[in-house]
Amino acid sequence: MAKITKLDDIVSLCKRRGFIFQSSEIYGGLASCYDYGPLGAELKRNVRNAWWKSTVQMRDDVVGLDCSILMHPLVWKASGHADKFADIIAECKKCNTRSRVDHLKNHTEEHAAHVPVETAMADAKNLSKKVCPACGTIGQFTDPMPFRLMFETKMGANADDSMTLFLRPETAQGIFANFRNVLDSTRVKIPFGIAQIGKSFRNEVTTKAFIFRTREFEQAELEFFCEPGTDDEWFARWKEIRFNWYIGLGIKKENLRMREHSKDELAHYAKGCVDVEYKFPFGSGDWQELEGIANRTDFDLRQHQRGIRTLNDWFEKNGDLSKISLKEEAEDWLKGPLSYFDEEKKRRFVPYVIEPSAGIDRSTLAFLVDAYDEDEANGEIRNVLRFHPALAPIKAAIFPLVKKDGMPEIAMKIYDDLKKYFTCFYDEKGAVGRRYRRQDEAGTPYCITVDGQTKEDDTVTVRQRDSMKQERIAVGQLKNYLREKLDV
Ligand code: GAP
Repeated sequence: MAKITKLDDIVSLCKRRGFIFQSSEIYGGLASCYDYGPLGAELKRNVRNAWWKSTVQMRDDVVGLDCSILMHPLVWKASGHADKFADIIAECKKCNTRSRVDHLKNHTEEHAAHVPVETAMADAKNLSKKVCPACGTIGQFTDPMPFRLMFETKMGANADDSMTLFLRPETAQGIFANFRNVLDSTRVKIPFGIAQIGKSFRNEVTTKAFIFRTREFEQAELEFFCEPGTDDEWFARWKEIRFNWYIGLGIKKENLRMREHSKDELAHYAKGCVDVEYKFPFGSGDWQELEGIANRTDFDLRQHQRGIRTLNDWFEKNGDLSKISLKEEAEDWLKGPLSYFDEEKKRRFVPYVIEPSAGIDRSTLAFLVDAYDEDEANGEIRNVLRFHPALAPIKAAIFPLVKKDGMPEIAMKIYDDLKKYFTCFYDEKGAVGRRYRRQDEAGTPYCITVDGQTKEDDTVTVRQRDSMKQERIAVGQLKNYLREKLDV
């Protein structure tokens, strides 16, 4: 039970200190949509940057991409989302609430992933003992039916010729659709990856716990293309890299684990899949998916090859789709633009793909939960966010001890110098102890205070958030001191 209190504490701290607000709050709020406040925007930007740094900047074999959210509708036909990206739902006959059937098994338990449609349909045959989570009625459900998760929108000003488009439910398809463009415009050679961070949208039937599952969210996805036969090795490598990314950014080992998908959980395209799971403090306290890492085989590139050929055939046959015959011989695929020619081996193949797919909002929540702590300072309870320095929204806060004797001017000059390199905050209001507490709650790793001694020897006190220890540092050394401590 203490865990539920902890999430409540975090939600209230997030609102109080400007990390996360309910969207459209002044109009009564919009369910499952959230806005990041000043501290939250910095935190989330740091999570994104940490992912990008480790996945793109630090690697010689990954390049970045930033695709549009709206894509040609045939992309979603080819990827399978138009036909298969659905949750199986049933409506309670008593209160008309629609629920995901896989959630009805035990409505206190959360299934983070979307179960494949076929599996969910098979599981949903008998709902006679299931309980409606909204009104508690037992076994009074309509027949299960698929509910499409993609949001629709219209493109074009005229009602007659406007086109129905979808808001992308994953960023991955933009990467597959640009595979040829990246090959032709860069010097990448297989094995290599294409990474992207961006918004995705899903009309989720069940939203959940704060920013854990929302209808608009941000994904950080890597599609790593490799030669068939080397995929198992890359799959193992990326599992390790991604698990260690969370640990390296301060997530406690005991709160993180890897879970292998069972055969019937696997999406139709996947040869293997694991979830990196975090022990979130909600629901039944179960482990919840933070990131999925899948071996997607050559499914997506083949599907898009089929998709573009269908489009070309469609034009050739004057729009009569019935005249199209799809030859699926292996050689035929290899003629397509989404195949790869290995110059050294003189061999052409359709690459396999390893996909680590992380949620920026979900990992931001995990970093918040994991960093949250309460301890005692001067006989009082102290709320502290022990963020890894790379994630801390503010790296250093600068205070004059008192608002006189030239201290504010010196402190402001230090602030002006340091803010060129780090996100800093200047504060001169209230007792210095209270200013420390406010920065502890924001997760600021260092507080710099100008006091009476500063004028005499040009030193300041630097106080560490976690140990609360203070040391004197020369003003001229502050930049290097912080650089070294923050590792940024
Ligand atoms: N391209 C593969 C893919 O999209 P997924 O498991 O459906 O796989 C990957 O999503 C990650 O995206 C999840 O592990 C989660 O972190 C995040 N995610 C998915 N749906 C989400 C939602 N409704 N709200 C917040 N994050 C979500």
